[in-house]
Amino acid sequence: MKRLFLYLSLAVALSACADRQEYVRPPLMGWNSWNAYMVDISDSIIMNAADMMIAKGLKDAGYDHVNIDDGYFGYRDSLGYMVPHPVRFPKGMKHVPEYIHSLGMKAGLYSDAGHNTCGSNYNKDPHGLGAGLWQHEVQDAERYFNDWDFDFIKIDWCGGSKLGLDVEQRYMRIREIIDSVANKHIDINVCRWRYPGTWVSKVGSSWRVSGDIRPNWPSICAMIEKNLYLSAYAGGGSYNDMDMMVVGYNGGKDSAFWEDSYGSNFGLTYAEEEAHFTMWCALSSPLLIGCDLTYIPKETIDIITNPELVAVNQDGLGLQSHIIQHDGAGYVFVKDVEKRFTGPRALTLYNPSDSVVTFSVPAELMGFAGEVAVRDLNQRKDLGTCEVLEMTMPAHSAKLFKVEGTRQDVSVYEGEWAYVEDFTRVRQKEITKYEEYPGASCGVAATSVGGRPSGNLQWRDVYMKKGGRYAVSVICAAEPGTEIVLSVNGQEHRTAVVSEELDAVNFMAEFKKGNNVVTVGNPSVMIQAVDAILLTPAE
Ligand code: GLA
Repeated sequence: MKRLFLYLSLAVALSACADRQEYVRPPLMGWNSWNAYMVDISDSIIMNAADMMIAKGLKDAGYDHVNIDDGYFGYRDSLGYMVPHPVRFPKGMKHVPEYIHSLGMKAGLYSDAGHNTCGSNYNKDPHGLGAGLWQHEVQDAERYFNDWDFDFIKIDWCGGSKLGLDVEQRYMRIREIIDSVANKHIDINVCRWRYPGTWVSKVGSSWRVSGDIRPNWPSICAMIEKNLYLSAYAGGGSYNDMDMMVVGYNGGKDSAFWEDSYGSNFGLTYAEEEAHFTMWCALSSPLLIGCDLTYIPKETIDIITNPELVAVNQDGLGLQSHIIQHDGAGYVFVKDVEKRFTGPRALTLYNPSDSVVTFSVPAELMGFAGEVAVRDLNQRKDLGTCEVLEMTMPAHSAKLFKVEGTRQDVSVYEGEWAYVEDFTRVRQKEITKYEEYPGASCGVAATSVGGRPSGNLQWRDVYMKKGGRYAVSVICAAEPGTEIVLSVNGQEHRTAVVSEELDAVNFMAEFKKGNNVVTVGNPSVMIQAVDAILLTPAE
């Protein structure tokens, strides 16, 4: 009896172990000074923002960073150490992060990888000249992280670009120096205004994928567009950053300023704000508020503190949603939440267009067998069960759902979900892209694949409930005679392409139970396009 009990508890312990998820750090949440104030900041503005985070319930909702952007620089002293702006920060800097910490939040700062900051150029702030990290890396790291005790730094690229520095070498070097000087781990945001290359996850917990956001709907769509096919590059606790959220301007004192700059093309309705926030949650962007918190409308606070949307952004699996359907103007995204491969999923419907879009999404496409139970996370209510989710969405909208049911193996892996080791890194014309391709599923294929081993497509999460033999069709287009190399967990198979058009190249391959790594490419010959791989059990 005793022995049986022991066996049983061992079995329970083992299965708990097998079920254990690897949770990673979620995207950063907080406030940043740039959009509301640009370089005209001060200690009282920053400390007031910190107070507002508490008073308005933002900290309680998870917004726990107060980040100072460009504009705090004064001058370098005779030894080269940074002294903050004597008028904007008359008492120095140390008391500001100290105050933020006393409220239980974290403090962030800004610098540039090169000599001069962006504000020294675009905002004509003379104090930003020579204020970047260039040739002051150690001193700045000592001052910012040890003397002043900041926890996070956004590192811009205006100065780095002006000096013509190599972006990868430069940011890697800065990471090394900060790690060797700072007394604690410092989160870095790489602000290079486009996806910088796969090296960046060794440097940053986030990286910007675009230029600066503007407070209007077209700009929001432009940010999302840059991030539609980057899901393979987020993960392990680091994220694609779509820039600060341009919410909270309705009726605020900033309106006049923005209206001056953007005229009628200014501002968002609350429905657009909600769509904007929903997409930042779905794509796991850092959530940084950019408006003046004194004037943030209650409606905006309600949108950005919706705990069920925030939970999708902050989900411990740390995944970014990828596109499973794109017909006409609408996009449908999905990602696992809570439990990898076997648990619920977050489903997003996104309509960037100026007209209504009707969506029809079968449970099977979402990765479930039969019916799914659907919860509307925007409305925070259960919608019941269905085999096909049908919904008509207004212009400029997005909605997140949690779907639950019996998971089934995914049978289509799109080319645009795959990871490419040297994505954006090779400075040559024929670099791998994810782009519109006639006849491709979801309208998009990975193009210019292979030609080098680091240019192959890699799906690192091909999960199989059961192991065994599978028929694999690689839907691709290449010069006839080109060999397509398929590898499953390192086991290589080769088949030559017959047609120049997008067509199936067929293989049989052995998959194991659980997670499989699949690559498609050719180490020396370029494949024009890979649309998708299709998997069917052999028996
Ligand atoms: C760049 C960045 C912005 C902001 C400014 C500061 O434009 O992209 O987010 O930090 O610099 O000058």
